[in-house]
Formats: sequence, structure tokens, C-alpha cells
Amino acid sequence: MNLESSFIDTLISIVGKNNVILQNTLLEQYGRDYTEDLFFAPGCVVLPETPESVAAVLHWCNENRVAVYTRGAGTGLSGGCLPVKGGVVLSTEKLNRIVEIDRDNFQATVQPGVINEVFRGAVAEHGLYYPPDPASKGSCFLGGNIAHGSGGPRAVKYGTTRDYVLNLQVALPTGELIWTGANTVKNSTGFNLTQLMVGSEGLLGVVTCIVFRLIALPASQLLLLVPFRTAREAAVAVNSVLLSGITPSALELMEDSGVKISAEASNTPFPLYEGAEFYLLIELDGESMEVLMQQAEKLFPILEGCGGIDILPAESSALKDQWWKVRRGIGETVKQVSIYKEEDTVVPRAALPELLTAVKEIGARYGFQSVCYGHAGDGNLHVNILKNDLSEEIWEQEIPKAIREIFTVCKSLGGTISGEHGVGLVQKDYLDIVFTPEHFRIMQGIKNVFDPGHIMNPGKWLD
Ligand code: LAC
Ligand code: ZN
Repeated sequence: MNLESSFIDTLISIVGKNNVILQNTLLEQYGRDYTEDLFFAPGCVVLPETPESVAAVLHWCNENRVAVYTRGAGTGLSGGCLPVKGGVVLSTEKLNRIVEIDRDNFQATVQPGVINEVFRGAVAEHGLYYPPDPASKGSCFLGGNIAHGSGGPRAVKYGTTRDYVLNLQVALPTGELIWTGANTVKNSTGFNLTQLMVGSEGLLGVVTCIVFRLIALPASQLLLLVPFRTAREAAVAVNSVLLSGITPSALELMEDSGVKISAEASNTPFPLYEGAEFYLLIELDGESMEVLMQQAEKLFPILEGCGGIDILPAESSALKDQWWKVRRGIGETVKQVSIYKEEDTVVPRAALPELLTAVKEIGARYGFQSVCYGHAGDGNLHVNILKNDLSEEIWEQEIPKAIREIFTVCKSLGGTISGEHGVGLVQKDYLDIVFTPEHFRIMQGIKNVFDPGHIMNPGKWLD
């Protein structure tokens, strides 16, 4: 899509000359995110500094029927922000203020371009806790977390982004600014537009301000690492831990190949065990170390009974950081080894052993290597399918069939095709597995009400 100069001139008059990017060299970085090796060239990039200018940009684009692709930090894994039809990329990077931390009400008001970890650190200074911490927490924006309904390791105990959003200011494609709800923990007034916006992947409007609910910061954390011989043993252990009545603040599963790749790529020491195919990372948190030690002692015989080869507590904060670094680095470092496709499968937790068995069986049949890891406590398994030396033809023709089989298994186990990465671009061809024409009719109807000109994120899953 070539943008006319008169169109660009008005964008400049709305956001200012310094906030419109037109040079090819600078545009390029806005045409990629963390998804595979995909690239689409934007027509231009705008960097609005106020909610009002976001609304004005949308209004102008709507009048001209120009596509708008909202972008946070570009750390998404489903291609949700990619400008597949050119047009305008609207980056929220200059909407990056923490407006208020309201300790009395356990709330905070922030703009969408604030980095997740910056926000978590700021509220922690007030003794408050914002639990959702996706693997990319050091760079991802809170607005992107809302667009995707992002999760992360802490979801098993604390829930996902969705569970902390109280109220959203949204710029509508038709040019208005609205607040979707109220700054209250209870709200039974009308349809829940706040939750409708969470996970809407830039298809309905642009979030320009967020009111989050917070909780009290837990004082202590204890991290355990447990190697297992098989995936099944590790997955069964996950269920046994939760059935014991203890809910860890993280219950993460890692295949040994992923651990090795991540540890090696980042040069991070990690205790590898001969014969261990999978590792569990179990984090407990609470009021005091004493309580956590009691919980850990209750878990030891359970973990041993499930086949845990050893149980290692992280005895220093350096060890804790190293193990988390290896876990959080798997997605990014696997990418350095081979081109890959990342699937974000999710099933009811107790069905995880069946899902893992099916993924490996499908892999053996199609001849691909997979690296499996993720949020076992949520039944949310990331399956990285590595291209390695598969031919281009097999990669393009056969692997999508294998992915379809994996997703079909997810559906048959009561799950779905994305737990926290979104549908975006790369999952759109598989939506028929989980949605019927009725689902599409309803969602298209909602889309039409918000975005009558169909300018928001065209070319993605709702076309
Ligand atoms: C993770 C990202 C890929 O859990 O969701 O590492
Ligand atoms: Zn994840």
C-alpha cells in the first residue's frame, strides 16, 4: 500500500514531524517481531505521544481506509503486529508513562508502552506485586501483554494479564476515546468490554491507558529443580504436586534439549543429569522461608514417588537467576540453532501427559525434532518444531499437516490452539479446528461494530 503524501502530511500534523518514520532503513525494524523469520514492510510508522493523538490517527486512517497495525515492543510470537498489508504501523513506544501507583487501592495506572519488568519493579517499591511475567518481561510492553492476553510462569498461581486488568482507555477506529469499565474490583454493569479488549490483538481498537489491579508482594521465594527420566513422569508429577494442595508460583517443564541449547547459548551453568529427558522448575512463594521449607518437605516424597531423579533447591540468588535465565531463554535460543515454528498448545492440565506423548508420536511420524517446554501447571506446552535439515518442501507442505494434527489432539483433549501467544498471523489457518462458522459470525459482528471501516490489523485471523 503506497501512502499518498497528503495523507502523510496530515499524520505529521497530528503527531509531529519527529514522530513519523518514513525512511526505509528505519522502517525495517517495524516490519518484524519475534515470530519465525517473517517480515512485511510498513508504509510508515507513527509514534503518538498522547491518547488523543492515537484517536486522531485512527480517525484519519479510517476516513482514508488505510490499514493500522498497532505495535508494542515487537516481542510477539504469533505475528500479531506484523503489517501484512503495509499501511501505518502505530507504535506505542512513546506512551510509556507510569501515571500513578495507588497503594491505598492496590491499583496502578499506566500507559501501554511501559515495559513489563519496569512496571513490576516500580510497584514492588510500594510493596505491591504485578504477577504476570512473560518470558520477554525485560522488553515486552504491557499493551502487548493485553493485546495477547499474555501469561508467563506465574500464571499457575496468579493467573494471566487478563486477571489484573480493571479498566482500559481505548481509542476507537472511528476516532473516539472511551473507558471500558471502572476502577473497581467488582463491576456488573453491562457487557464486559474490558475483557473483550484483552486478547483482541489490535483488531478492535488501541489501548491508550490501563488501570491494573495489584496484590501484596510475597516476601519469600524458593526454587527447586527436579530432573525426570521421561516426559510422562514429569507431567504426572505436575498433577501430583497440585493435588497435594500446594500451589507453586511456577511449575515449569523443560525438555533437556531446550535446557542444553539455552544454557550453552547464554553460557550459563546448569546441572544437567545423565538420562534426564525433562526437568521441572518449581517455585514456591509466600510469607516466610520457614513456611516454604515446610511446603518443600511435603513435596519431596511426592516428587520422588513420581520418579524425580534428584531435588535441588537453588541455594543462592545467583543459582535462582541462572535457572530462570535458562528457562526463559529457551524460546529465543532455540531460534539460533534452527529455523522453527513455535506452537502454543494448551490443554486441561491433567491431559498434559497425553499431549506430550501425541506430540512426540506425531514428530516421529513426520520426522521432525521438537523441543517442548512451558507452563506445565497451566497445561500450556510450547512446542518448537525445528526445521534442522528438513527440505523446504517438507517444511512448507508437510509440517503444517503435522501442526494440524497436534492442534486436533489439543481440541480433542478439551484444549485449544493458543494459551498465551495469540492467533495472529501464524495460527490463522488452524482456527477451523476450534471455531465453527457461528463463532466467526459472532466475532465478525463484534469487529464490525468497533471497526466499521475494517482498518484494524487486516490480514490477520478475522478477515
Ligand atoms: C515462554 C514463551 C515462549 O514461555 O511464552 O518462554
Ligand atoms: Zn510461555
